[in-house]
Amino acid sequence: MRDDAQISDAYLDMPAGPYIVAPLPAFPADAIQLSVVVPTYNEAKNIREMVGRIAGLLDGPLGESYEIIVVDDDSPDRTWQFAQQLISEYPRLRVMRRVAERGLSTAVMRGWQAAQGRVLAVIDADLQHPPEVILALHHEIERGADIAVASRHIEGGGVSDWSLIRRVVSRAAQLIGLIILPNVVGRVSDPMSGYFMVRRSAIEGIPLSPVGYKILIEVLGRARFEWIGEVPYIFRERVQGESKATGRVYFDYLRHLLRLRLSKLPINRFVRFAIVGLSGVVIDMGLLFLLSDPSTLGWGLTRSKLIASEMAIINNFLWNDAWTFGDLSSHQRGLGQRLRRFGKFQAVCLVGVVLNTVLLNLQFNVFGINRYVANGIAIGCVTAWNFWLNLKLSWRTSQPEPRTVTRTTTVPMADYVE
Ligand code: GDD
Ligand code: MN
Repeated sequence: MRDDAQISDAYLDMPAGPYIVAPLPAFPADAIQLSVVVPTYNEAKNIREMVGRIAGLLDGPLGESYEIIVVDDDSPDRTWQFAQQLISEYPRLRVMRRVAERGLSTAVMRGWQAAQGRVLAVIDADLQHPPEVILALHHEIERGADIAVASRHIEGGGVSDWSLIRRVVSRAAQLIGLIILPNVVGRVSDPMSGYFMVRRSAIEGIPLSPVGYKILIEVLGRARFEWIGEVPYIFRERVQGESKATGRVYFDYLRHLLRLRLSKLPINRFVRFAIVGLSGVVIDMGLLFLLSDPSTLGWGLTRSKLIASEMAIINNFLWNDAWTFGDLSSHQRGLGQRLRRFGKFQAVCLVGVVLNTVLLNLQFNVFGINRYVANGIAIGCVTAWNFWLNLKLSWRTSQPEPRTVTRTTTVPMADYVE
């Protein structure tokens, strides 16, 4: 039993400001291994059993080095009060009654921000996520996983009693995610899961922007991680209370996917690349005029274009190396390295020039389009080509190979299964 002072310590204030999990102090006085956040809205009928089962599972293996954090959004059914009443019985329980904000993903973030654990977990309060799986998830983290996800879509997992339509809608949402964000959604078998753990070190200091229901997507999109462990589970039917998911959840999901998609585009770099490209266009156009216009030298179109383009390429390389990709080139100093980058840039652009010349000739000779308009269109098409290939080939080679993400699947041991 806890005295009044300990109980009021267990009432957490909502962290304010941006959604960033701070690093732990170097030597935390009371180091906690695992913080389990339980978001609730109108779960008064479930909260007692939920807290009791989690505590029953973790007391043995973790002793005092875990905490359960209920984050309740001021539920009309007073879930927060029911949870607070459990504090004297469950010393590892803490309760946050959140009044100023609402929403599942933000509740999870606020819980993690207030948490002291090295590993941060989330589980639904309604017992649809079997609490027992939490041990298997934690085991994955102990083995070295950075993120451990409970999955319905691997061997041993499933949904208990879903209608065909619900299964189809759930899979369609996953498919849309795969199309919009393949590198995020495709990393796990069940990206919609709301039952997972993540090492604090994987997300600390990273501003997250939680929208709607699917906090895992945000974590997969922004965290630092190399190893994802997956553990199967069967999504149970709700016995008490009601689901809060409405049509809005799908809308939020789409908004979330698009927001992540945009934030992952190397937009600033591309803007710089385009500005450098524009300086190249001025050089290219100017030389094309000087060399090929009937009123000046009047050389052949193809020959003039090749010279104009090469001059533009040299100009663009110098600016891109110093500015657009400056952060990347600074890791690869020396003339030799620089020449290698130029060689690759030149090769990519040469293919671009061929493309450019073909496009220009096609427009000018076949369709009779004005040579400068045609040149502008050709340059536009080739810019996109040049950006992507140069990003991937010319400047990126100095970087470590793209992260490989390990995925492991744990078949739960007999005692994890109900
Ligand atoms: N604090 C807070 N604020 N909690 C909320 C809110 C909110 O606005 N909305 C929902 N919750 C809590 C619920 O009380 C429950 O504990 C949990 O979040 C999940 O909400 P449900 O409404 O029961 O969700 P569901 O069963 O339809 O949806 C679940 O679908 C996934 C599988 O597709 C998700 O929540 C996932 O966690 C789950 O894995
Ligand atoms: Mn539910």
